Amino acid sequence: MSTIPNLPNLPTVPDTEPSRAVFDSFRIAIAQKLTTALPSLTLEQAFSGVDYGKKGEDFTVAIPRFRLPGKIPEIADKVISSFTPDAYVDSVVLDKSFLHFRVNTATMFRLVLGQVSALTPEYGCNESGKGKRVILEYSSPNIAKSFHVGHLRSTIIGAFLANLYEACGWDVIRMNYLGDWGTQFGLIATGFEKYGSQEELEKDAIKHLFDVYVQVNKDAEADPNVKVEAARWFKRMEDGDEEALRNWRVWREMSVKKYEQEYERLNVKFDVYTGESKVGKESMDTALKRLEEMGLVSESEGAKLVDLEKYKLGKAVVRKKDGTSIYLTRDIGGAIERYEKYKFDKMIYVVSSQQDLHLAQFFKVLELMDFPWAQPSDPKQSASASAQNPANTVVHVNYGLVQGMSTRKGTVVFLNEIIKEAGNVMHEQMQKNEEKYSSVENPEETALEIGITGVKIQDMAAKRVNNYTFNWDRMKSFEGDTGPYLQYAHVRLASIGRKNPHLLPLPAPASIDTALLAEYPHARDIAFLLGTYPDVVRVALKTHEPSGVVTFAFRLAHAISSAWDVVVVKGEEDEEKARAKMYLYESAREVLAAAMRLLSLRPLERM
Ligand code: ARG
Repeated sequence: MSTIPNLPNLPTVPDTEPSRAVFDSFRIAIAQKLTTALPSLTLEQAFSGVDYGKKGEDFTVAIPRFRLPGKIPEIADKVISSFTPDAYVDSVVLDKSFLHFRVNTATMFRLVLGQVSALTPEYGCNESGKGKRVILEYSSPNIAKSFHVGHLRSTIIGAFLANLYEACGWDVIRMNYLGDWGTQFGLIATGFEKYGSQEELEKDAIKHLFDVYVQVNKDAEADPNVKVEAARWFKRMEDGDEEALRNWRVWREMSVKKYEQEYERLNVKFDVYTGESKVGKESMDTALKRLEEMGLVSESEGAKLVDLEKYKLGKAVVRKKDGTSIYLTRDIGGAIERYEKYKFDKMIYVVSSQQDLHLAQFFKVLELMDFPWAQPSDPKQSASASAQNPANTVVHVNYGLVQGMSTRKGTVVFLNEIIKEAGNVMHEQMQKNEEKYSSVENPEETALEIGITGVKIQDMAAKRVNNYTFNWDRMKSFEGDTGPYLQYAHVRLASIGRKNPHLLPLPAPASIDTALLAEYPHARDIAFLLGTYPDVVRVALKTHEPSGVVTFAFRLAHAISSAWDVVVVKGEEDEEKARAKMYLYESAREVLAAAMRLLSLRPLERM
């Protein structure tokens, strides 16, 4: 066993958690060296200047950002001449106005791998949200209308955010706010008398209700009486007429049941199924009254509206002429009810950027109503930018459009069509490699899982606000930064254990000689990346972007694949060394799996 250098004691820095993010220790060690050389810096200032370096550099400090008096080379010289290596930091070099610090390789291996194995499966998690509650509203499809790609994106991004907040210690309430109310239900009720079939309904409620809706819409175009009849029916529903509500109740319940199965398929879940229908009349009335008392409401042709021109948000109708409520009013009432019920510290709406205006109006109204929980964190920000500020209590997480998501049969209307097609496309792809295919235990199930991974990865790979064109060829490809490639990387790691059973189970980390890995730069790259994972999670929480986690997963997968032929386990004669390598790959597998789970993927063991 090589000797382990003693670690110097480090001061503490606020908002760091070295016991969960061991690179905090390395950064504090570097910050300490900076403050020794440059006494006018506080430890916190120095710490915040220590960033991850570009490829090949561990940590980098941009000297100008400290705004110190004196010339860059002189400042740098002070740091370099007073530098003494210790068990954390090995060396420092100057490169233009940057200082690059290299950490001690042996310590890094030992501490990073030690932390991964001590904390797995919670490695990467933190407790920054301890004691706080967040409501995450996502998916929120409309019953009896199509489940479009926008809903799919909300489902995927929302599931990720829910996992992310949970990983950061928050108490998360996963909420599905169904479009289960509105005049269209009067229309369906009218149509159901003519086109409805109990049998079809039980077979596939979502599809059948949609079909009825399409048919009755056609009727309505030809005959205006149909709409009148529908409006009358909906009014009865709004008035709480049990007779008029009975069917609707059944449809809603059956649709939710069906959705639950499909969400389960996607590894997505909800704690609460609520919906527009559940927003109480009283809370909407109270909200309207309050708005009126505050002098915010004006009337126009019988409708009531809030004038938001001052904020460049137009005029928002809050009550229709016939007295029935609308989408915006339901959202206002709903938010107030949620606060009363859950006392959230944060509430996030994952909704397409097509509804940017709606959410900005909605949040502005809440703000004007003086709810303390609806006040923006940056009063100087424009209303539309403010709606998306992740630092606010109520936040709109938006995302761009998806083009080209249609199956070979045509435009996608239902979620189960997307799921099925993803499975089929992947299955055909796998069948092309006959030999490999025949060794897969349950190929259809596996294909489905990989297909879903492909869809999700394509969705989360770029920044949310970007529009993108969905591509089935790319989705099914095992090459490039695709879902199948990621699953493959995990499967390959999982296979090392199966192929080298004599090395398992691994002994306690303290008796594995990680210093034996020091001769492999590829092993160092992997371990270093593993050390960054807790920061990847922290950054994602600040930006609400899944793409950073996706990028991390691919960087890790690439680092592993480059190490594969160089850091070899099978055939390694030095048993100690073989064990150290195995330990590295096991740690890598655990972290890759953690990142994949955060992205709502199910990492596969075999394919
Ligand atoms: N059901 C709505 C739609 O499909 C999305 C709901 C978004 N959430 C909200 N609170 N407005 O357009």
